[in-house]
Amino acid sequence: MNILVTGANGQLGMSIRRAAANATDRYLFADINVIPELETIPLDITSPQQISKVVNDNDIDIIVNCAAFTNVDAAEDNMAAATLLNATAPLFMAKELKKRSGLLIHISTDYVFGLEQYNTPCTEEMKGIPSGVYGSTKLEGENNIISSGCDYLIFRTSWLYSEYGRNFCKTMMQLTAIKESVSVVFDQAGTPTYAGDLARLIVDVIERKKYVGNTGIYNFSNEGVCSWYDFAYMVGLLSKHDNCKVLPCHSSEYPSKVVRPAYSVLDKTKVKQTFCLATIPHWTFSLAICINNILKQ
Ligand SMILES: NC(=O)c1ccc[n+]([C@@H]2O[C@H](COP(=O)([O-])OP(=O)(O)OC[C@H]3O[C@@H](n4cnc5c(N)ncnc54)[C@H](OP(=O)(O)O)[C@@H]3O)[C@@H](O)[C@H]2O)c1
Repeated sequence: MNILVTGANGQLGMSIRRAAANATDRYLFADINVIPELETIPLDITSPQQISKVVNDNDIDIIVNCAAFTNVDAAEDNMAAATLLNATAPLFMAKELKKRSGLLIHISTDYVFGLEQYNTPCTEEMKGIPSGVYGSTKLEGENNIISSGCDYLIFRTSWLYSEYGRNFCKTMMQLTAIKESVSVVFDQAGTPTYAGDLARLIVDVIERKKYVGNTGIYNFSNEGVCSWYDFAYMVGLLSKHDNCKVLPCHSSEYPSKVVRPAYSVLDKTKVKQTFCLATIPHWTFSLAICINNILKQ
């Protein structure tokens, strides 16, 4: 099988590079910008011509789309660009794959929720009412893939972090190393997702062909529930940055352009049953692994 990973220089893309290092399938990694030290095919997924060429030249069976407009605040001022990347480009890939009976594995987000005020874990069937451009365009991307008629797996994930790029874990490691105190919101609940765990699931689903007959949306995060405050507190603790106090604060103290989901814990019953996952690591367990890896770098 020939697998194309788009957005391969981002957090999840880099984690898939690592998870697929010993895979028997042939993986090709693509991104809009080529980093000289990483083997990467140049590919802008907003160009249907470029998608068609890369897919046909390399006889691609599966695309794992990790590319997205992920800057939530910037999306508010760049609706056209966010729509093109998050909603239209997935449709280009879905249409190309449908022609060859291929599979699209796409990544979505808990930001498809936002305004609906749930207080129990969100299942895949629960209606999302996004609160901003990022969430709306990601939901539109999901719907475009579904209506394209191609085979797909959409993994909705939340609070993604890794050893790569910029993310909340790395920012908190830096801040708790140098500041006496840092205030973090405690009134938004969710679950962090270590990109390494999601990458391993994706590579395993491909390797064992677990996708066959399982087109659909699947939630995936680590286990457990926490606030951003708890997440930051645990980052400081595991990094042994004992001199910095992590303090809880309200979202209203950090006005932003987008209302973040107040409660976006993802229910993972479906992903566990469908892909036979006996356990998913608790978020603190995976966080410790990631922080150890970062400290070793
Ligand atoms: N980060 C989170 O907290 C989070 C949470 C839930 C879900 N997700 C979803 O998870 C997926 C992966 O997120 P991530 O954090 O790994 O993203 P990321 O680190 O922002 O990586 C995205 C990659 O896509 C590339 N890209 C941008 N425009 C492109 C284009 N036109 N064509 C091809 N590649 C392009 C980016 O390149 P440049 O950097 O050079 O622009 C970057 O390498 C996304 O679908 C995201 O929506 C993320």
